Amino acid sequence: MEDKIICGCYKVTKNTIVDAIKNGAETVEKVGEVTKAGTGCGNCKNSIQAIIDEVKGNEIVCGCYKVTKAQIIDAIKNGANTVEKVGEVTKAGTGCGNCKNSIQAIIDEVNGSSPKKEKGFFKRFFCK
Ligand code: FES
Ligand code: FES
Repeated sequence: MEDKIICGCYKVTKNTIVDAIKNGAETVEKVGEVTKAGTGCGNCKNSIQAIIDEVKGNEIVCGCYKVTKAQIIDAIKNGANTVEKVGEVTKAGTGCGNCKNSIQAIIDEVNGSSPKKEKGFFKRFFCK
């Protein structure tokens, strides 16, 4: 991956941002906390979001067949709108089946329907 300055304000490079994302900074705000990128003029925030999407797209969703999120999104965009159809195209979900919920979540994400939020999430988040 080429290294170039993404955030001119703080001279933060793409590789630094990618490292931060891989270490768990999965939002623009968290990347800012770790690297300062995006916390100045804010002009680079869209670029940071694009890098987050890119890095997360390379995530393996199906460990059995090493299928990435990006491959699953491609399949969905090409018409595979159920977990079974995604499996026919990519093999994801056709092994142990543990990734089926994740595939469904990606289908929901791509199709714009909001997946059901886990009950109690906000309560847990805000009431420590
Ligand atoms: S260019 Fe990144 S905050 Fe200004
Ligand atoms: S992790 Fe996807 S089928 Fe096993």
